[in-house]
Amino acid sequence: MMKWLQDAVFYEIYPQSFYDANGDGIGDLIGIIEKLDYIKELGCNALWINPFYDSPFKDAGYDVRDYKKVAARYGTDEDGVRLFEEAHKRGIKVLIDLVPGHTSEEHEWFKASSKAEKNEYSDRYIWSDFIFNGIEGHPYIGGEAERDGVYMLNFFKCQPALNYGWLKPTEPWQKGIDDPACLATRKAMADVMRFWLEKGCDGFRVDMADSLVKEDDENKSGTCQIYRDILPGLWHDFPHAAFVSEWNNPDQAINGAGFDMDFYLNHPGNGVNSLFRDYITEGEDRSFFRADGHGDITRFLEEYQPRYNKTMMSGYISLITCNHDTPRLTKTLTKREIELAYAFIFTMPGVPFLYYGDEIGMKYLDLPTKEGGYFRTGSRTPMQWNSGKNLGFSEADAADLYLPVDDAPDAPNAADAMKDPDSLYHTVKDLIALRHANKDLQANTYCEVIYAEKEKFPFIYKRGSFIMVLNPSKETMTNIIPAGFAKVYGIGDIEALPVDESDVLKVGPQSFAVFKATTEKAREAAIAWK
Ligand code: GLC
Repeated sequence: MMKWLQDAVFYEIYPQSFYDANGDGIGDLIGIIEKLDYIKELGCNALWINPFYDSPFKDAGYDVRDYKKVAARYGTDEDGVRLFEEAHKRGIKVLIDLVPGHTSEEHEWFKASSKAEKNEYSDRYIWSDFIFNGIEGHPYIGGEAERDGVYMLNFFKCQPALNYGWLKPTEPWQKGIDDPACLATRKAMADVMRFWLEKGCDGFRVDMADSLVKEDDENKSGTCQIYRDILPGLWHDFPHAAFVSEWNNPDQAINGAGFDMDFYLNHPGNGVNSLFRDYITEGEDRSFFRADGHGDITRFLEEYQPRYNKTMMSGYISLITCNHDTPRLTKTLTKREIELAYAFIFTMPGVPFLYYGDEIGMKYLDLPTKEGGYFRTGSRTPMQWNSGKNLGFSEADAADLYLPVDDAPDAPNAADAMKDPDSLYHTVKDLIALRHANKDLQANTYCEVIYAEKEKFPFIYKRGSFIMVLNPSKETMTNIIPAGFAKVYGIGDIEALPVDESDVLKVGPQSFAVFKATTEKAREAAIAWK
């Protein structure tokens, strides 16, 4: 497992909304460079930057027109290189976004592929052989190209699917994954990765990583085979490069494809929504972190634990505070509920990711769609730096901003939050510092569940000599525990009080603590909760 990931805490930056250094209303790479000290001070030592490539921006940059060029709105190619250098000077690694499954319909490859005359790129994308032959089970577009046939989409209409082949071709126009045309696509993508690694990035977040091979089997063996082919060659030349997948299936992504980490996203079926966003399902919000949610940690653990057990020796599950595709937690959780959620995220195993602005509790705004954002747009608003013009994001006129800044009178901002010891910012900063200071709270150390009962509190888990006690409910509970547990971090009213030979652990409402076992007896006993 990649060594530097052991202590990595990532910060996700949506470049258009982070900091506008040149006053044109949109964030840029120089803006990111100017804020690297802020990120370092917060304690994050790695970045994931959403796509900054040349693009018509119909899906906010996930529609790449030129993989090897920085979009003019973000700056120059040189700015990209400088960003890597400046980050490295501060001990910060940089992962950039790779979109391997599709390009923009304006990419040169696609323009060539659309031509009637056969050429090098004719099979770079998936085309059927006749304009009235669709692509069964997949979205496709016909009637726009000079060439006969329809082409397959990978996401929006603007994103034609690159051709990595079909696992079991059934039509004459479907290529196998080892067909020379599909191998050429694979090679082209490896070449893009190499290009940026040579320029100094430290790896990639791979977009829709599981989407390469069409009609893949249930283990995604075709797609896995492609990464197994690409990644070792890159590691040979860039041994410290790291790769995180948007796959949401850690076993396939890590054990199958060879990724270092896989995102644990808010997709149905992995239990994550039961923690933070149970409003997605019908009825009342029963999210574990809501004080009135009547939460149940077992709904998460039943899904998470088998996945963790399968991957803990080979890679990392990445829990995220949020991302650019997901409503921010502030949509439904209060400050205290979010603090407890972060306490959990930053003390669990794997490699955590913090979404820009989540450290100050930026709001999820109700906004019309922008660049294919739809409901996601509300999580993509400009970072709130201070109480000045446009909350410090940009010197441009408000009307010219990429997206409006939060105009609520109580909109948080980083400068004020840094001055206020009770702010969410300081909780995040303290939790990250705690993680950096203690190896057992970093990526690797085994996480043992000590107490997790259906619809009961608290949730207790142990990592090395640390015991985490988490109670998101409004109830108070007490229990007798062995002596020798020292509190090293706490939120709310939670104490281990010595009484005779034992301790009484009092767990107040909405509280969390990290206890360190200071005696051999405590180390062995953990916290036996009855
Ligand atoms: C990923 C990205 C998302 C994008 C989609 C298509 O899910 O995170 O923002 O729209 O892929 O590339």
